[in-house]
Amino acid sequence: MTTAPVSPLSLPRFPRDFLWGVSTSAAQTEGAVAEDGRGRSVWDVFAAEAGRIKDGSDARVATDHYHRYREDVGLLKELGAGAYRFSVAWPRVVPDGDGPVNAAGLDFYDRLVDALLAAGIAPVPTLFHWDTPQALEERGGWLVRETAERFAAYADVVAERLGDRVEHWITLNEPAEVTLLGYGLGQHAPGRQLLFEALPAAHHQLLGHGLAVQALRAHGATNIGIANSHGPTWRASASEADTEAADLYDLLLNRLFAEPVLLGRYPDEELAALLPGPVAEDLKVISQPLDRYGINYYQPTRVGAPGADGAGAADFGGIRLPPELPFAPREIEGYPRTDFGWPVVPQALTELLVTFRERYGDRLPPVVITENGCSYEGIEDGERIAFLDGHLRALHAAMESGVDVRGYFVWSLTDNFEWAEGYARRFGLVHVDYATLARTPKASYHWLRDVLREQARR
Ligand code: FCB
Repeated sequence: MTTAPVSPLSLPRFPRDFLWGVSTSAAQTEGAVAEDGRGRSVWDVFAAEAGRIKDGSDARVATDHYHRYREDVGLLKELGAGAYRFSVAWPRVVPDGDGPVNAAGLDFYDRLVDALLAAGIAPVPTLFHWDTPQALEERGGWLVRETAERFAAYADVVAERLGDRVEHWITLNEPAEVTLLGYGLGQHAPGRQLLFEALPAAHHQLLGHGLAVQALRAHGATNIGIANSHGPTWRASASEADTEAADLYDLLLNRLFAEPVLLGRYPDEELAALLPGPVAEDLKVISQPLDRYGINYYQPTRVGAPGADGAGAADFGGIRLPPELPFAPREIEGYPRTDFGWPVVPQALTELLVTFRERYGDRLPPVVITENGCSYEGIEDGERIAFLDGHLRALHAAMESGVDVRGYFVWSLTDNFEWAEGYARRFGLVHVDYATLARTPKASYHWLRDVLREQARR
């Protein structure tokens, strides 16, 4: 199904210095997992286990970005992107997470940064996009404090090498997903099913963020952010039970990861008491001022108390939640859906941003939408055009109402390895034929190119 064309000329005008970008990550695109001294990551190990990835695939080749990065930079240039958010693979730079640095791994990012700069595109590296070195995982991964310290040492190494040319830095991508899906439910690497005992992984990632900010500052970085995933939580009904369930979900997805960073405290005392280490001291490190607050937005969630309407272990955008959790997902009806089944609700992006401004006031740094996108099949992807058009309008509406937003990054440049979903979900502006690795720009790519040209012209 394609929808009616949306004219690139009809979008409202964004500020001249607005940062238009595209996002990807190392584990989903690079491939070349055993080349040039790269160590193993938790995703290499997880994907090799039977039954973990829905289509039985893995990311050993992915989109072969490691070898084809010049072609991908060419696509970015032709698109007119002002910035490219990619991630640095920790196990490529420090193969065991700790110990010797792999110069050949750093060389790759050096070449990539230079190619981007030569094309007039600002590099925006994310230091951690889920590919923890397996050697560190075997020592406890993010459940142990040491991993936060190792992460800061790695951040220092990357900043030392790239800091003379990179202006924009992101520390972590979506620590909420790593905590919930990786350590809580076991549906992502490292495949642990600890439920609420996964919480130390949240604290140690946040501590790693704070320590990495210090390391980046020591190299003179002046534009640092984090990319947290957020979305409005809608309660299933106004009943007390549903309200409580929705509040808890909101706390875990949104507040648990925003408030330590923005306010220097955890949103709930009881929860903070479950966390290891000198939490009050750590919060000072975690809450150092940031220059940008990155938000990855995909969809709102509707949540109620478990049990009612048989809504216990429902499928939650591809994720199965066990029935013993104190909240349960409910269908969001009345909106189109992506091929992934995610509801398309652009106005929830406005709602999210306005809520954040109301909640955090001037503690909220200027926001960048570090990811937003959708999975659809096909090269004539009118649905993706409609999705992006709707979300850009929703973003503009939030800006009109006073939220300071400085940039927007589409997820993703090319189709890629969508974690536990394998290659079945296609989020790219550019189609990848996985048999030949040929790239073919989709209709949405051409549409976005025209949007960016038009925005630059005004
Ligand atoms: C986000 C991840 C990103 C990608 C999109 C679809 O949660 O940060 O890597 O998989 O979802």
